[in-house]
Amino acid sequence: MPKPIIEVRKISKRYVMGDQVVNALRDVDLVIEPGEFVAIMGPSGSGKSTFMNLIGCLDRPTSGEYFLNEEEVAGLDDNKLAEIRNRYLGFVFQNFNLLPRTSAQKNVELPLMYAGAKGRGERAKKALVMVGLGNRMDHTPAMLSGGQQQRVAIARAIVNDPMVILGDEPTGNLDSRTSEEILAVFQELNRNGKTVIIVTHEEDVAQHCKRIIRFRDGQIRVDERVESPTDARTVLDSMNLSEEAKLQPTA
Ligand SMILES: Nc1ncnc2c1ncn2[C@@H]1O[C@H](COP(=O)(O)OP(=O)(O)OP(=O)(O)O)[C@@H](O)[C@H]1O
Ligand SMILES: [Mg+2]
Repeated sequence: MPKPIIEVRKISKRYVMGDQVVNALRDVDLVIEPGEFVAIMGPSGSGKSTFMNLIGCLDRPTSGEYFLNEEEVAGLDDNKLAEIRNRYLGFVFQNFNLLPRTSAQKNVELPLMYAGAKGRGERAKKALVMVGLGNRMDHTPAMLSGGQQQRVAIARAIVNDPMVILGDEPTGNLDSRTSEEILAVFQELNRNGKTVIIVTHEEDVAQHCKRIIRFRDGQIRVDERVESPTDARTVLDSMNLSEEAKLQPTA
């Protein structure tokens, strides 16, 4: 068996607000191997974002263990967690979270600046080309469509060459064609070896992944393989064909 990239053992997250206690995650065990493409599903409030924030090292569990690339990270302090995030993880959010008055290229350079990396401009350009935005480097977010903004966010997530890409509802604000385009980018990254984990409310979106994990009440209730995941490229090609057919009615 390959070494897991993510392994959590009995992690729990409890929020206490006054006399109210919420057990957002309860004794969750999970192993994810390198190269997996996982969808996290479940009803609102079931703990998906809490779980993503923990595996993304944006937060710490109340109890339990978390090994990222075999390193125990559950007990690290904020600085160490930031370092780990920079080294291993790339994030894509539902609302893109781009700096509004900053060009696509500068947005993508940001994680490299935090890491004090060299050759930032070239690396940012390369990442933008990879997501198909080679011709939009100087555009600010306001000059880009939602799908293009999300591609900038993906470029920013991959510019550090992370092992794992995490997305919390990355297609949540996009129409179905644009979602498909974003899923095509994720599938391409996954084919190139990245581990990808996304939260989604949409069964259609989840069917593009290789594995679906369903949460309910802070626990994993279902963990299943997807027999033959939907290929986003194929869907996009058929969308294009049917549009062409509409434009050229047969005599
Ligand atoms: N910072 C917080 N303080 C207190 N309670 C919280 C906090 N964050 C989350 N919770 C609670 O933990 C539970 C799980 O929330 P979480 O955001 O993980 O759900 P989710 O599955 O992502 O839902 P959604 O699909 O609506 O995004 C909820 O009951 C929520 O109210
Ligand atoms: Mg959520």
